[in-house]
Amino acid sequence: MYRSHNNGELNATHINKEVTLAGWVQKSRDKGFMIWVDLRDRYGITQLIFDEQRTDKAVFEKAKSLGREFVIQVKGTVIERESKNATMATGDVEILVSELNILNSAITPPFTIEDETDGGEDIRMKYRYLDIRRNPVKNSLLFRHKVAMEVRKYLSDLDFCEVETPYLIKSTPEGARDFVVPSRMNEGQFYALPQSPQTFKQLLMVGGMDKYFQIVKCFRDEDLRADRQPEFTQIDCEMAFVEQEDILNVFEGLTRHLLKELKGIEVDKFPRITYDYAMKTYGNDKPDIRFDMKFGELNSVAQHKDFGVFNSAELVVGIAAPNCASFTRKEIDALIDWVKRPQVGASGMVYVKCEEDGTFKSSVDKFYDQGDLKKWAEATNAKAGDMIFVLSGPADKTRGQLSALRMELATRLGLRNPEVFAPLWVVDFPLLEFDEESGRYHAMHHPFTSPKPEDMKLIETEPGKVRANAYDMVLNGNEIGGGSIRIHDKDLQSRMFSLLGFTPEQAEEQFGFLMNAFQFGAPPHGGLAFGLDRLVAILGGQETIRDFIAFPKNNSGRDVMIDAPAAIDDTQLKELCIKLDL
Ligand code: AMO
Repeated sequence: MYRSHNNGELNATHINKEVTLAGWVQKSRDKGFMIWVDLRDRYGITQLIFDEQRTDKAVFEKAKSLGREFVIQVKGTVIERESKNATMATGDVEILVSELNILNSAITPPFTIEDETDGGEDIRMKYRYLDIRRNPVKNSLLFRHKVAMEVRKYLSDLDFCEVETPYLIKSTPEGARDFVVPSRMNEGQFYALPQSPQTFKQLLMVGGMDKYFQIVKCFRDEDLRADRQPEFTQIDCEMAFVEQEDILNVFEGLTRHLLKELKGIEVDKFPRITYDYAMKTYGNDKPDIRFDMKFGELNSVAQHKDFGVFNSAELVVGIAAPNCASFTRKEIDALIDWVKRPQVGASGMVYVKCEEDGTFKSSVDKFYDQGDLKKWAEATNAKAGDMIFVLSGPADKTRGQLSALRMELATRLGLRNPEVFAPLWVVDFPLLEFDEESGRYHAMHHPFTSPKPEDMKLIETEPGKVRANAYDMVLNGNEIGGGSIRIHDKDLQSRMFSLLGFTPEQAEEQFGFLMNAFQFGAPPHGGLAFGLDRLVAILGGQETIRDFIAFPKNNSGRDVMIDAPAAIDDTQLKELCIKLDL
């Protein structure tokens, strides 16, 4: 038996007990006549004591050789600590060691294994297994496990069945590039790794599984950001004989359950807003609604005066930053510079101070009188003490810029408290979006998404106006899940492929299996997928998903620990019939 207890469980009730413990040496303090060692494992830290007077001489001498991260096993007696540590679970006791067994020595770690480490991101990634020994990373992984367990429990209780789907498949178009895997047995042919199990879960519905879920790896070769990894995990779900309402209810229930079980937070029914409303009101289809600052459109009150910039703009739009009228000229100039950065791209910004006495002071006082500015304040819901910031230009671009400013202001004003959770649904997404580069329409969600029946009449004439039965769940400004009601009719699916620019032959070649399946009695169905990494990170109070993934990739898609991707040798290339002509 390696251990009788772990390092987080001994307390005053164990005094005088003989115990065996094992773990890593967190640190050792040698006072000459007394040596204290902090012994660490996943469960906590227990203090060991080696006393020249009371410890066997050989054991005492061996204890002097212990270094950081040595792996040891000790036997000893639990005794009361002289100076207790109330901040530690085991802080009332220590172990007077009688036997010491060094299970493994360790070279000095490249960074300190403490909550606050001296190691930078790169070195911690290279030695990720050491990073995992630190509480912040370890606790994130434990938290992820808890979320996954609660998800499995909740969905299984509702009769969802977890089914595994293959990883070596044919491309599914979810909008990113595929990772491909050459097939040795089929010369010149490639599998694609799934961007999601979308077509398989639909086929499971045709197969009568009725309610499916899977906590599943997905692979997308896309540019990385804080909330994106090339391989990530979805909680992927599908249900048969459902309407949108059924799906929203089930997954709102799941999210509410997670918030209650993991954060102790009860949330009312989630607000639902349409995509159009989200874009007009927040400039964004994943609005953070922990704070207000809704957009106020100012065209009717700011145009047709003498201010040419606004007169020529498609959209004039502003937000009221709460209690910001006291901003100094310097602070305002810094914000103007911020919106003019290429990443945001505004050409300038107008501001209006809403003074406490009800008057206004603006950067465009030359063109607008107090009555005009009062109308701006009404449109942006500004109160005395607020500052209105106004941008203008092409509608979509300007909304995007103001959305970036809204988030930046909220961050600066401390309005994005990670312990406050504001989930919502965004519904009625457009079915298609026009891609300037390729000059044609693309599916906004994916090509299996069902158009709203009432919008079908527009499909040939104004395809951009057709709305879909598609929805996203948004939490604190992050898209944590998305899904749709699917097309389950072969003819409609073929029409959709043709709208998306597939020839009948291409559609047949890529998706013949699905359209074929639809001829054998496909039930109406729909579903959604959550991003597990994102969900866990946000519930854990962060937006960077890397810390909630055991072995993540860096920003260039590399695993710096195992040094992947890497070249393969010539024999392997030959076997795969791959010629590299670089
Ligand atoms: P979608 O593409 O919206 O839908 O993906 C679902 C959710 O997965 C998460 N996600 C990611 N997380 C981390 N890194 C990434 N690269 C990444 N890409 C996506 C997001 C997103 O909301 N098959 C459909 C679902 C369906 O229609 O049922 C799909 O994959 O949180």
